[in-house]
Amino acid sequence: MYRTHTCGELRINNIGQEVTLAGWVQRSREMGGMTFVDLRDRFGITQLAFNSEDNDALNKSSRQLGREFVIQIVGEVIERSSKNTNLPTGDIEIKVKTLNVLNAAKTPPFTIENETDGGDELRMQYRYLDIRRNVIQDKLRLRNKVALETRKYLDSIHFMDVETPYLIKSTPEGARDFVVPSRMNPGEFYALPQSPQTFKQLLMVSGIDRYYQIVKCFRDEDLRADRQPEFTQIDCEMSFVEQEDILNTFEGLIKHLFKTCRNIEFEGDFPRMTYAEAMERYGSDKPDIRFGMEFNNLNSVVKNKGFKIFDEAELVLGIVAEDCAVYTRKQLDKLTDWVKRPQIGAQGMVYVKYNEDGSLKSSVDKFYSQEDLKEWVELCGAKPGDLILVLSGETDKVRKQMNELRLHMGDELGLRNPNEFKPLWVLDFPLLEWDEDTQRYHAMHHPFTSPKKEDVGLLTEDPGKARANAYDLAMNGVELGGGSIRIHDKELQSRMFDLLGFTKEQAAEQFGFLMNAFEFGAPPHGGIAFGLDRLVATMGGADSIRDFIAFPKNNSGRDVMINAPANLDEDQLQELSLAVKKS
Ligand code: AMO
Repeated sequence: MYRTHTCGELRINNIGQEVTLAGWVQRSREMGGMTFVDLRDRFGITQLAFNSEDNDALNKSSRQLGREFVIQIVGEVIERSSKNTNLPTGDIEIKVKTLNVLNAAKTPPFTIENETDGGDELRMQYRYLDIRRNVIQDKLRLRNKVALETRKYLDSIHFMDVETPYLIKSTPEGARDFVVPSRMNPGEFYALPQSPQTFKQLLMVSGIDRYYQIVKCFRDEDLRADRQPEFTQIDCEMSFVEQEDILNTFEGLIKHLFKTCRNIEFEGDFPRMTYAEAMERYGSDKPDIRFGMEFNNLNSVVKNKGFKIFDEAELVLGIVAEDCAVYTRKQLDKLTDWVKRPQIGAQGMVYVKYNEDGSLKSSVDKFYSQEDLKEWVELCGAKPGDLILVLSGETDKVRKQMNELRLHMGDELGLRNPNEFKPLWVLDFPLLEWDEDTQRYHAMHHPFTSPKKEDVGLLTEDPGKARANAYDLAMNGVELGGGSIRIHDKELQSRMFDLLGFTKEQAAEQFGFLMNAFEFGAPPHGGIAFGLDRLVATMGGADSIRDFIAFPKNNSGRDVMINAPANLDEDQLQELSLAVKKS
């Protein structure tokens, strides 16, 4: 037996016992004739004590131990003279009798402590060492717990875990596919699933009734803090349900997860908002409602005063930054530069300071009198001491820019507390979205999403106006999950494909299997998928999902540890009937 206990286990009541421990040398300290070594494993840290008076040779050996050596010791649990209240094992230490070096270690490239000196790239290159750090293990522990509790909860309400294939044909989730060449079928390719969407619908036709899977999905898209090329979904589908059934079931799951994994209880039902309202009030389909700073439409008070930019703008929006009238010229210039960055793309920013003495100072005083500005202030509900920030332009663009500015101000003013959780169901998404580049409609969610019953007529009259039975769960400005009630009728499904610009042949070629299945008795069905990585990162109070994934990719989609992607050798290419075009 390598050990009798873990390094996190021994307490005051173990005093006097002889124990065997194994683990990594975290740190060692020499004090006169004593050597103290912190021995670490996944479960904790235990202090080892070596004393030259008891055994000089052993003490000397202990001084040869380097950081991250793997050792095994036998010794007696004794009470510590100076206790460490920060450690669960801090009341005791082990008076070591024998020491066995199981494996020496090179000096690690960064310190394996909660606070490390390792940069992102270096940590990823040696991710197996990075994962030795408790801060990372805590994240993986949370992920494990969330996955486990998800299974428990869904199992308790009769969801069945069914695996679906990874080597498939393209699924239309809006991103590019990762493809895999087929050796046995030269010139043909599998696509990796962007989600198990079509399979879970087929499982409903099969009568599985309630399906779930914690499953890898693959999307070749530009990466961000909350996006990875391979990520994990809690993917679910239910039969004989309406939207309300799905919302209730999965609100239950999220509440269960927060209760069991974070000991947080939500009061009452999650709030709901339509997509249209979310866009109007926050300019986002995943509003962060931990703080206010809602949009105010200033169109009615800014026009016809000679300020051309506002006169010509489709929409003029203002937000109130409370108690920020004290912002200096320099701070305001910095903010203006920030909104003008290409990533945000605003032409400029107008501000109004509502000074404590009631006077108003704006960057457009040339055009607007104190009375005019008073109207703005009243419309926005600002109070003395506040600052109003104004952007203008085309509706969609200005909403997007103002959303960015609002979130930026929320960060600057410390209004986005990572330990506060504000869920929000966003409902009634548009069914379609017009794409200027291709001059055609795209499915906003995916082509299997059903229109609202009352909007089916719009599919012929004004397709862009039709709303979908689609919903997202947003939390703290993150889209945690999304889903829809599906079309289960072949006729309606082929009308959708029509609208999306598929010819009959293209639709049959891509989705014939699903359309055929719908002819054999498809139950009404719907579902949802949560991004597990995003859910866990949000629950852990972090913006980036990367640390919650054991082996993530960097921003260029690389795994710098195994150095993937990589070239294939000529033989492999031959076998796959592939040739690489030299650039
Ligand atoms: P959707 O495309 O909205 O829906 O994806 C569901 C959830 O998956 C997460 N997600 C991601 N997480 C990390 N990296 C990514 N690249 C990434 N892309 C998506 C998000 C998102 O809300 N088949 C439908 C679901 C359904 O209709 O039932 C689907 O995949 O949290």
